[in-house]
Amino acid sequence: MGSKYKLLDWIKDELSAYEFDSVLDGFSGSGAVSYLFKSMGKTVFSNDFLHMSYTFAKATCENNDQILDNEDLEILLDMELEAPDFIQKTFKDIFYTEDELLFLDKVSNNIKRLDNPYKESLAKAAIIRSCLKKQPRGVFTISGNMDKYNDGRRDLRLSLQEHFREQIEIYNSIIFSNNKNNIAFNGDIYQFNEEFYSPDLVYLDPPYVPRSDDNCYVKRYHFIEGLSKYWENEEIDYSTKVHKIKKKYTPFSYRRTAIEAFDTMFEKFRKSIIVLSYSSNGYPDLETLVDILGKYKTNIEIKRKDHKYHFGNHKKVSRSKVEEYLIIGS
Ligand SMILES: C[S@@+](CC[C@H](N)C(=O)[O-])C[C@H]1O[C@@H](n2cnc3c(N)ncnc32)[C@H](O)[C@@H]1O
Repeated sequence: MGSKYKLLDWIKDELSAYEFDSVLDGFSGSGAVSYLFKSMGKTVFSNDFLHMSYTFAKATCENNDQILDNEDLEILLDMELEAPDFIQKTFKDIFYTEDELLFLDKVSNNIKRLDNPYKESLAKAAIIRSCLKKQPRGVFTISGNMDKYNDGRRDLRLSLQEHFREQIEIYNSIIFSNNKNNIAFNGDIYQFNEEFYSPDLVYLDPPYVPRSDDNCYVKRYHFIEGLSKYWENEEIDYSTKVHKIKKKYTPFSYRRTAIEAFDTMFEKFRKSIIVLSYSSNGYPDLETLVDILGKYKTNIEIKRKDHKYHFGNHKKVSRSKVEEYLIIGS
């Protein structure tokens, strides 16, 4: 949800006019933009308060040289070793089959045996993507009998184990070094130490106040967020049908706090070139954001692009046409 994957070429083109060696991707999400900056040869600081986003960035951006080899695969797919049964107990009859839940418990336990933080994050990223692909519609708001969603698609036909092997291969194939010391962070944007790391440019793509429904990432992705840390220190709300973890508060999601949130954030990063990704369906509107940024930056440029977002990945795909902006203060 909200990934800038399809806009990477545009972002790259627009930013190539600016001189910068180091960059903070403050709301990294899928990690796609961090990976773009890495491929542009920048020193990348990648940050997100979700642990799964941190996992993606650690695996693909910070990791310059570790891949999962056959020996690692053997460890990961070892189904003999005793493992905790938390996933089986907690998500029985909610997501996946009992055998698949057993597989997830075993793999999660085996990941810890890899003894290398980059290999661990790669394996976690691969199991997360496997779960996403195997889950009908790719969101964890629906549960129980999923037959009605099964349209015979390959992603639903493959077993979790087959997906996992495939994802490991894909992740292995994208690991490269840009000869920079890139770092992934798992924190709130306001906790980032901008004085110490002093990034030349800060790319900010926060969630925005939703027009309807809500934009909560945890609501849709709670299962994979939990999986990325085996639910350690996470509180599960057992009163919910899908056993969600607690939503993470962010001031960007509410009308009454969003404007101040932008103001505080722009002030925090006033010494860097500030690039805000935003779209025409967001709140506050463009004019307000430019005004706030103008308090800290004298030179403001606005880049625009028409874009269609896709919601859902099943039969009922709706497209919402928006104008995408890069609001750049230098
Ligand atoms: C629109 S998404 C970013 C998408 C990303 N640019 C991509 O291409 O995948 C917004 C992200 O902000 C994160 N987030 C929201 N509030 C945050 C905060 N206060 N500090 C850090 N991350 C936050 C969410 O977890 C989510 O991953």
